[in-house]
Amino acid sequence: MENSAINGKKIAANKAIEYVRNGMTLGLGTGSTAYWAIRGIGDMVKNGLSVRAIATSIQSEELAREMNIPLVPFTEIDHLDITIDGADEVDPAFNLIKGGGGALLREKIVASATRFYIIIVDETKLVKQLGRFPLPVEVAPFGWELTERRLTALGCTLARRMAGDKPFLTDNQHYILDCSFGTIADPPQLHRQVSDITGVMEDGFFINMANIVIAGSPSGGDARVLAKPQ
Ligand code: 5RP
Repeated sequence: MENSAINGKKIAANKAIEYVRNGMTLGLGTGSTAYWAIRGIGDMVKNGLSVRAIATSIQSEELAREMNIPLVPFTEIDHLDITIDGADEVDPAFNLIKGGGGALLREKIVASATRFYIIIVDETKLVKQLGRFPLPVEVAPFGWELTERRLTALGCTLARRMAGDKPFLTDNQHYILDCSFGTIADPPQLHRQVSDITGVMEDGFFINMANIVIAGSPSGGDARVLAKPQ
């Protein structure tokens, strides 16, 4: 990754961790932007912050452990105060495409239990309309060929995500189908159509979930905090 892209991500992450307070239960996102937030929270813990957290992937869980951030199971909590996570695309209505890292199902479970959901991006992820980034759809391996045909019938071209010469498997042992729809005119409607398909475990649309979006510029300067549109 170019240094400038890392810079925008890190700037956004550093702004987001300013929202973290003592005693909070946190959701830890997944990906190269969330990485910086987890590291930042780890530094705060080292300096005496008391929090507990749930991670959205095995990868983020491992990083949290390395940073000595206490992890809790869902049996011990009924909500998360704040979750900080990245996104692949954000439109002006705060519709998101997520799942580039393949963690969308866990990310959405955590987001759905979160009171204040903070999305951190480098500002190149802010788009007028979603769709340049293919929509990741997590599907059951059983009968995936049928699920693929049903998704294709919605008007996309589709590729099963691979890891080398084997299908990529999510932390939940599912496949990811990356669906290119082109420009998406109505994300909430397409989200409903995709999630209605049997065999779809979760799709990468995060609709009406983000409370704020924090965007960092690759060229430096302060992060922009965008409030949820009314
Ligand atoms: C993982 C995600 C990530 O948040 C998204 O792909 C953005 O990743 P990055 O911060 O590496 O650009 O949804 O499933």
